[in-house]
Amino acid sequence: MSEGRSPLLDRLQAIEEEGLAALREATDLDDLEAERVRYLGRSGAVADILGRIGSIPAEERRPVGQRGNAVKRLLEGAYEARAGELRREERARAVDDEDLTLPGRRAWPGGSHPVTVIIDEICDIFAELGFTRVTGPEVETEWYNFTALNIPLDHPAADVHDTFYVEDGVVLRTHTSPVQARTMQAYQPPVRVVVPGTCYRRESIDASHAAVFDQIEGLAVDEGVDFVEFRAAIEYFVHRFFGPDTATRFRPDFFPFTEPSAQVEVSCTICGGGGCPTCKGTGWIEIMGSGMVDPAVFEAVGYDPERYTGYAFGMGPGRMALLRHRIPDLRLLHEGDVRFLRQFAGA
Ligand code: PHE
Repeated sequence: MSEGRSPLLDRLQAIEEEGLAALREATDLDDLEAERVRYLGRSGAVADILGRIGSIPAEERRPVGQRGNAVKRLLEGAYEARAGELRREERARAVDDEDLTLPGRRAWPGGSHPVTVIIDEICDIFAELGFTRVTGPEVETEWYNFTALNIPLDHPAADVHDTFYVEDGVVLRTHTSPVQARTMQAYQPPVRVVVPGTCYRRESIDASHAAVFDQIEGLAVDEGVDFVEFRAAIEYFVHRFFGPDTATRFRPDFFPFTEPSAQVEVSCTICGGGGCPTCKGTGWIEIMGSGMVDPAVFEAVGYDPERYTGYAFGMGPGRMALLRHRIPDLRLLHEGDVRFLRQFAGA
């Protein structure tokens, strides 16, 4: 029996030398992976030799098997070592590429809804005229929502088609005007309040109507409050809110709780009065209902209508937000999409 040296041992020697060199010299992780597959992969060079063991003379199998496994471990060690080096280099390069002078990305802490920002601004302007901010309940009795305001319960506004009834005699308030009556019952004149709050109506929802919306009520009552003071207060507000060049006009209107009643309009904030889709070509935009407080309301709350006079107004801050930001559709404000809302949100 010849002590034959298997040619596969020479082949393994060559694989070891070439493989070690290739793995050690791999220039990046992709390159290294390609070399790993070539030498250590399932059909790589080492596996190829070990796969042939079944077909060589029996006495050669043991030395070839041992040598094959040794080469495999050696190459695996070289692979791991080089992989570690390359990963460290890659991390170092990533840090070098980072601009450490850039400001950090801060998480947005949230902000006020654009309508909330407008409500605060409106209340702040009226505060300059001595108005105090108060609130009242959203679930309201028929008496405060309608009766005290001289609205008979057979008036269409009190109909179930326009109003959400919670139970007999109890409604979701359809406006902030019931807080007029609550304020006058709680305080003697002089009274000057602004009342922001949410209101509810059975509405078909569209670009300018929502079933849940905000209003701001205003009420001023004292001896000698007249239409001149009323007009002056509204004009002061319009100039502060829309700018000094904005014109105001009062047009006759009707509300059961004011007499006379007026619709307040301002020159269109979009076209400046020339006529555009927002003002429907008229050059004017309605911003509030208003009027001198009807004596019947004073009687309902126990104020002396011979002694006191006053004015009241109600406006929609949602609508004011649309005008301020030139937003075409009220629904955009109510969908709660932060990507949209954060453009306008106060910090
Ligand atoms: N409450 C009325 C409405 O919702 C608005 C208004 C308030 C009118 C105060 C006059 C005075 O339409």
